[in-house]
Amino acid sequence: MSNTKEIAKRIASLCKGVYVRNYTRSKLLSDPLYGGVFEELKGREMPLLDVGCGMGILGLYLRERGCEMPIHGFDYDGRKIEDGKFMVEKGGYEGITLSQGDARSELPGQEGDVSILDILQFFEEDEQRVLLGEAAKRVAPGGKLVIRSGLQEKNLRFFVTWLGDLFARACFWMKAAPVHYPTSEFMRTVLEKEGFEVEVRPFWGKTPFNNYLIVGIRGHLIK
Ligand SMILES: C[S@@+](CC[C@H](N)C(=O)[O-])C[C@H]1O[C@@H](n2cnc3c(N)ncnc32)[C@H](O)[C@@H]1O
Repeated sequence: MSNTKEIAKRIASLCKGVYVRNYTRSKLLSDPLYGGVFEELKGREMPLLDVGCGMGILGLYLRERGCEMPIHGFDYDGRKIEDGKFMVEKGGYEGITLSQGDARSELPGQEGDVSILDILQFFEEDEQRVLLGEAAKRVAPGGKLVIRSGLQEKNLRFFVTWLGDLFARACFWMKAAPVHYPTSEFMRTVLEKEGFEVEVRPFWGKTPFNNYLIVGIRGHLIK
């Protein structure tokens, strides 16, 4: 069994129900998300704040890949936070904490690296600007802001991304439907104004979605 398969199996085995277990396993095996974020964060020691963490799978994945930074996940879905806490405890992971709250009105005060994965589409454009500004304040000098988002483009991938998010809402996996997808230009403009060097690159792997990885680096890059 490959390392990827072992990690997916182990993390999925911590999930409470069969549906969530299968979903988590197949996401870990098919989506380049966590592996790509690992490549950005490996070897780093600053605390990581994961905004919209869901069940905190990123944190568990980073631990399984040997990352040791303190990790705090934050999400407004109380059920996911409770499930995530259960998984952290069951898996015996150290230094991973999770808390519930709405990123529209608050973010934990921690400073270091920040990740925002697949949540911007639930925010209106003005709300995205505010969220990115608040996240930026939590990125320490030399820190990284790692974002994945579907970006608005006139192509089939974008349409499939939107349909996927509508489906997630229809089957109650998400508490909300998507309201607005940012453009690449919007991301660059907002993050450069916040003082980041910005890199935007396609990040869909073998999935049909129009996802991009957006990495903001504050000051010089410390890997
Ligand atoms: C598609 S999921 C991504 C979960 C996680 N980032 C990952 O990639 O594994 C989007 C997450 O954003 C959370 N979310 C949406 N709006 C939010 C808000 N206003 N405040 C905090 N979390 C929010 C949802 O509850 C959900 O867990």
